[in-house]
Amino acid sequence: MSLPRIVATRYLLPLREGGSLPGVVEGNDLGTYVLKFHGAGQGPKALVAEVIVGELFRRLGLRVPELKLMELDPVIGRSEPDHEIQDLLVRSGGLNLAVDFLPGSLGYDGSSGTPTEQEQARILWLDAFVANVDRSWRNTNLLVWHKNLWLIDHGAALYFHHAWASAEKFTATPYNAGDHVFRDAVTGVAGVDADLAAAITPALVTEVVGLVPDEWLLEGDRERYVGHLLARVADRSAWLPGGAR
Ligand SMILES: Nc1ncnc2c1ncn2[C@@H]1O[C@H](COP(=O)(O)OP(=O)(O)OP(=O)(O)O)[C@@H](O)[C@H]1O
Ligand SMILES: [Mg+2]
Repeated sequence: MSLPRIVATRYLLPLREGGSLPGVVEGNDLGTYVLKFHGAGQGPKALVAEVIVGELFRRLGLRVPELKLMELDPVIGRSEPDHEIQDLLVRSGGLNLAVDFLPGSLGYDGSSGTPTEQEQARILWLDAFVANVDRSWRNTNLLVWHKNLWLIDHGAALYFHHAWASAEKFTATPYNAGDHVFRDAVTGVAGVDADLAAAITPALVTEVVGLVPDEWLLEGDRERYVGHLLARVADRSAWLPGGAR
């Protein structure tokens, strides 16, 4: 199993609200995508986290825009006058991450698209599991599209991969649920714990880690991601918001 591969044909516009300056890009399949660049400040590891977390969440029943791998030839941005964007495109030649663009979607502000309490608890549990710090009220990284909630921007999760030497600690690092957009669902976390923990099997984790392209990884990285994620799900006593049952 692998993510579909497409080629960028047109750079349409930058998404300035995103810190990593993602761009809206057209693909050779005529689709429109939000392109997240391996040459952005966070580097290719942000894209690795997007794939592992996004595809894990999707398989556990959450809505995540479709992800594809997009080959970029920086010449497609040659008419782009902004130097910052030109530099980013030049640094990002090769494989980048394309996120299906949801036209007309709006950022979640609590007024519509609110998930049930159980769904909120599942999102809180999963964000705690992958240590996603980017789901606060200031920056929810949730989109409402056709009245449904969609989860985006998982590039800051799995931060243990920035320091493999101390990554052991990740297994038991607590999660600050107080900052999470669904922090009030903490009382429901124990109720969704058993199902989610049972669903995160070695086969599932191996499958989603297997979707990351070799280009963004070093030798041995796949085993490291699988090992740390399985160790974290096996013992939830230290990190689960509200405490494991
Ligand atoms: N698939 C999408 N469809 C429509 N709009 C999107 C999509 N993905 C991102 N956006 C818009 O672009 C913004 C920036 O995207 P994203 O959060 O993924 O980028 P980032 O650079 O990682 O951002 P951050 O500043 O939060 O770290 C989002 O807040 C949202 O408004
Ligand atoms: Mg964001």
